[in-house]
Amino acid sequence: MAQIFPRWTNQTPRLITIGGLVGLGALTFAVYWWASPYHTDVGYQPAQPVAYSHALHAGELKMDCRYCHVGVEQGAVAGVPPTQTCMNCHAQVKKGSEKLKPVYDSWADGKGEKSIPWVRIHQLPDFAFFNHSAHVALGVGEHRAAIGCETCHGRIDTMEVVAQVQPLSMSWCIDCHSDPAQYLRPVDAVTKMGWSPDVEWQRKQQDIAATLDPPGSLSGAQRYVDGHYQTYATAGCSGCHR
Ligand code: HEC
Ligand code: HEC
Ligand code: HEC
Ligand code: HEC
Ligand code: HEC
Repeated sequence: MAQIFPRWTNQTPRLITIGGLVGLGALTFAVYWWASPYHTDVGYQPAQPVAYSHALHAGELKMDCRYCHVGVEQGAVAGVPPTQTCMNCHAQVKKGSEKLKPVYDSWADGKGEKSIPWVRIHQLPDFAFFNHSAHVALGVGEHRAAIGCETCHGRIDTMEVVAQVQPLSMSWCIDCHSDPAQYLRPVDAVTKMGWSPDVEWQRKQQDIAATLDPPGSLSGAQRYVDGHYQTYATAGCSGCHR
């Protein structure tokens, strides 16, 4: 009998099966990858175990961020406060409130060893290194400046429930690192919300930025050394991938 289909079509069912399996694998991986905490993105706003409101505490009551996020100036991690911090006030304030029940449960032993299970919102993958202290105070002497909490976390003082407002992607980091001037503010305004620079500070921003050397800066990737340009394009990778 004359061959109607060329020989290779005998393989077709197998190819379809293999293709299907690969496709299914890729789909499973994609779902796993994007749903993993590393890829939760702008707008991510998980429900928290306590109806704790930044709009009330940081907004209305004007509490400084550092009262609760004590690690932010000295360490890599800002830290979420232990139950003790809440009890400084809530041992008296609104005592017995139903909304505070998880706080009192956590304090049942008088030490808060069973901490409140806050749900983490901002999280980089393990292979990317970030340090708060290097951002909330940088430069030296008269070139001292800061990046405000607001720049990376938005108007926390208006949030009933915290949401992520920046992508925390590699290109987001690199965009700022390549031209940070417009994001610099005086160190004493680091936790201020709704801050904007005056004309005098705007003049200073470029001068300060010129003294900084963030890893992966595209503007810093080419440098004129000994009469010719050298490329430092990959030199910055290890700054964030250690
Ligand atoms: C009274 C204590 C308190 C104060 C003051 C406070 N926070 Fe918080 N913050 C918390 C607690 C508790 C959480 C964890 C629960 C949540 O996400 O709401 C948190 C969560 C956060 C998160 C998200 C953490 C994550 O998991 O990614 C950010 C960002 C943040 N705070 C920034 C700020 C900023 C900026 C200020 C100042 C404007 C501030 N906080 C003031 C207690 C506080
Ligand atoms: C500096 C004092 C202070 C600290 C510290 C503090 N709070 Fe409060 N909190 C208040 C005040 C004041 C109110 C408003 C009380 C009112 O509405 O009369 C309040 C209200 C609340 C409410 C609403 C209670 C209700 O019944 O309406 C919750 C929930 C709450 N706080 C959670 C927390 C948590 C969780 C922490 C620790 C991360 C914390 N607070 C730390 C002062 C504080
Ligand atoms: C240059 C951007 C940037 C600035 C400025 C910044 N943050 Fe963050 N913040 C991040 C990133 C990125 C993460 C996630 C870090 C990680 O997963 O390793 C984060 C995580 C957090 C967290 C949760 C995890 C942790 O580190 O405890 C809190 C709370 C927080 N920031 C509070 C603050 C406060 C308060 C300020 C201001 C004093 C501030 N941040 C300034 C970028 C920033
Ligand atoms: C809004 C601006 C801005 C954003 C966004 C930002 N950075 Fe930076 N970062 C800076 C500046 C400015 C410096 C330079 C500090 C200096 O030279 O003293 C810096 C320095 C660093 C350093 C070197 C200091 C150290 O601790 O070794 C690392 C690492 C770093 N950034 C990682 C990151 C990562 C990762 C992200 C994204 C998740 C990020 N940064 C987002 C402005 C920013
Ligand atoms: C300023 C900090 C910074 C620098 C410099 C940097 N990276 Fe990244 N990189 C990140 C962050 C943050 C992530 C995680 C992004 C995310 O979770 O979406 C990342 C993710 C990655 C990934 C994973 C792919 C992905 O999209 O998730 C690779 C691969 C990578 N970087 C390679 C590099 C190489 C190569 C260099 C040097 C040319 C470099 N990085 C320089 C911060 C940086």
